[in-house]
Parts: sequence; structure tokens; C-alpha cells
Amino acid sequence: MNILLLGSGGREHAIAWKLAQSSELENLYIAPGNAGTMQHGTNLYIDINDFSAVKEEVINRKVDMVVVGPEDPLVNGIVDYFLADKEIMHIPVIGPDKHSAQLEGSKEFAKKFMEKHHIPTAKYGSFTLETLNDGYAFLEGMKAPYVLKADGLAAGKGVLIIDNLQEAKKELKEMLAGDKFGASGKKVVVEEFLKGIEMSVFVLTDGEGFKVFPEAKDYKRIGEGDKGLNTGGMGAVSPVPFASTGFMDKVYNQIIIPTIKGIKAEKMNYKGFVFIGLINVKGEPFVIEYNCRMGDPETEVVMPRLKSDLIDLLEGVATKTLSERDILFDERAAATVMLVSGGYPEAYEKGKTIFGLNDVAKSIIFHAGTTSDGPVISTNGGRVLAVTSYGKDIQHAIQNAYESIGNLSFDNMYYRKDIGFDL
Ligand code: AMP
Ligand code: GLY
Repeated sequence: MNILLLGSGGREHAIAWKLAQSSELENLYIAPGNAGTMQHGTNLYIDINDFSAVKEEVINRKVDMVVVGPEDPLVNGIVDYFLADKEIMHIPVIGPDKHSAQLEGSKEFAKKFMEKHHIPTAKYGSFTLETLNDGYAFLEGMKAPYVLKADGLAAGKGVLIIDNLQEAKKELKEMLAGDKFGASGKKVVVEEFLKGIEMSVFVLTDGEGFKVFPEAKDYKRIGEGDKGLNTGGMGAVSPVPFASTGFMDKVYNQIIIPTIKGIKAEKMNYKGFVFIGLINVKGEPFVIEYNCRMGDPETEVVMPRLKSDLIDLLEGVATKTLSERDILFDERAAATVMLVSGGYPEAYEKGKTIFGLNDVAKSIIFHAGTTSDGPVISTNGGRVLAVTSYGKDIQHAIQNAYESIGNLSFDNMYYRKDIGFDL
């Protein structure tokens, strides 16, 4: 089988690494990929939101399946684009269609879905500039801290958590006026604040059948002790110690089953990953968000813990036979630590040579923002490398990852030294 994988981060390198282990794979293409994905296939330098360019590659290279890594091609309707074109409509694209991708692309859509299907989540109200006064009244009726979410995609930056009522009102107004997050913030979801510890579960579905992948916890803040600015993610671990059998049973019955049943009941065209961001509030799970794709860096610990053939599972999705397939896990724990460019998530420099990539024995190095020029590999983004290790438990996995990092360097390299500190 020939597969085209869209994306260029650590997530895509981890997916490419896993696809490459399948005996079913003939050719793997990654667009645009990075210096790491080149180890497993051919990088194609196209814009993945230019669907006619994607189509051209699919036809020219006889691609049998497209796997979408990031959310934007899905939210922009790549699935619909393929289904509307006679030449490519028979080629499966792993991911939901445009309407279903609103589970990630619109906070209000996701909240309404959860409300309708009785899925536990924070209480909320949804407001526009026209209903600003209702938004103020809603805030007045709530206790601090106040959670304000831009309705649309905002690259992980669209959520504000504010302690003071006056400031929350001011921010709400600014968001709705379009000053803060542009069009994404023209509608704002105001939510009750939930206090607890977060984790994520990943479900692959063909719209009816589903498989639950290993759960993970990521570390979003740039600074140690979960301080400082939000990032795409600075590290992750799997499994999650507080995800006991009892807790995961609740997640399964109260969240996963109703989500899949909801997708079916709404006749959503959803063939792909559902990433469910959860919060454990005194032993009870609540959904914080849905994403319509895998997480990054969660994928860098989830794929190493998947024993089954990923292509077999994806074929199950494409042919709606996922229920008939088996899913097996590696019993070992996995941890990943992100090496980032100094300055990230604010301004940073690119083009720094990376040293030591061949001196790492205890870890799998997934590339994120890297590029190659012959044998020289350089930094090409904020998040540069995800260093993943196995261990008999997460503490050992984390320790192994940090040992490997001792061999790696580039100018101005930064990483958190406390991944797993709270577990
Ligand atoms: P989201 O983009 O919806 O995942 O929100 C980003 C982050 O904001 C989450 O990972 C949480 O840490 C935090 N957050 C979002 N909603 C809530 C909430 N209702 N209560 C507490 N924290 C929240
Ligand atoms: N690590 C969080 C995400 O992928 O959205």
C-alpha cells in the first residue's frame, strides 16, 4: 500500500515510524515532513491546505490512503474535497469531514454535542457581540476563575483563565470585538472552571466501531512546575498513573461510548482519531475539549506503545471493519521530552546545527522542527526533537529520556527537566 501522510511535526514522524513497521507498506510519502520523516519515506514539498496539489500527488504517486496529522486540512474540508471529486473519491482519507471536524474547530459545536449526548463537561454559555450583555450577566453569576474560549481554532492560544470579574468582562468584550483572536473570537464560550488533573484519551473510529489507544498526559507550559506560557506541548507520558481501572471505566462508559454513539446518531462522517482532553475532578472525568486528530507530543508516546499494525487498523477505519480488528499494547511505559529552540513559544532562531543524533542508544528520536542539508541536520522550528524512551514504569522511561538528552545539543537548546513531576 502507498500512503501519503500530511504534516511536519513530531506527531507525523511518530506516525511515519509506526507505518514503516508494517509489512503492508510499499511507499510512504510525507508532506511536507521533516528531516526525521525522510528516514521512513519521501518528503513532498507541497502546501497541505492546497487540496489540488495534494490531489496531484495522490494521482501521480498512486497513493492508496491519505493520513492527516494536523487539524487544519480537516477543518478546511479535505475529506469533503476528496469525496466530491470522481478521480479521488475512492481513496480513503483518515480524518473527519469538515462538519464533524467542528468538534475541534468550534468550541460551541463541541459543547452542544456534549450537552445533547449527556457527556460530562463544564457548564457554559456562548456569546457574540450582539449578546455581550448576556455574557456579562453570565459571568456575574459565576465564581472566579473565569474561563473564556475563542470559538474557532486559535493554535492552542484561544483560552483565557482570569481571576478577576472586571478583567474577564473586559477580555470578553475585546475577544468579541475581534481585537484578540480575529474571526476565531467573534463567538466566545464562557465556562465554569474545573479544578483537577488533566489527561487525554485517543479513540480511533470508523464512525461506528472504535478502538481505544493508550492514554497519555502532556505538559503544555514552557516552564518547570507548569509555569509560564502555553506551548504545543513540552513532553508526555503514557500510561497515566491516576487513570486507574475504576476511573477509566467511567471514561469509557460516560465519555467514550456516548461520544461514538453521538457521532453515529448525528450521522457524522467521522473516520479517524478522536482526541479527548479530560480533567479528573475528584475521581470524576469531564471533557475539556475534543480534537479531531492525534496529539503532539502525545503521539510520540502513544505510537511506541501500540503493538498492533497501524495500517491494519487504518484499513479497518477505511472499510468500516474496525470492530473486527485487534489492538494490542506494549506493556512498557513511554515518556517523551521535547527539546525546543530558546525563546519558544515566543520569538526564536532557526538554522542551528543539531549534534549527537547518532549517539543516542536508549531512545527513539522523533523530529519535529528539523531540516536537513546533506548529513547536516538543523533546527527549523520551535519544537525541534521529541526524545522518547521506554521504561518498566514512567519514572524509568523519563530517566532514560533525560540520559539520552545528555548526548544531544544545539545552540540555545531548552527543555523542561521535570516532565512527570506531578505524578
Ligand atoms: P482547550 O483549548 O479547551 O483544551 O483549553 C486549553 C487549556 O485550558 C486546557 O488544557 C486546560 O488546562 C484549560 N482549561 C480549559 N477549559 C477549562 C475549564 N473549564 N476549567 C479549567 N481549565 C480549563
Ligand atoms: N498536545 C496537545 C495537542 O496536540 O493539542
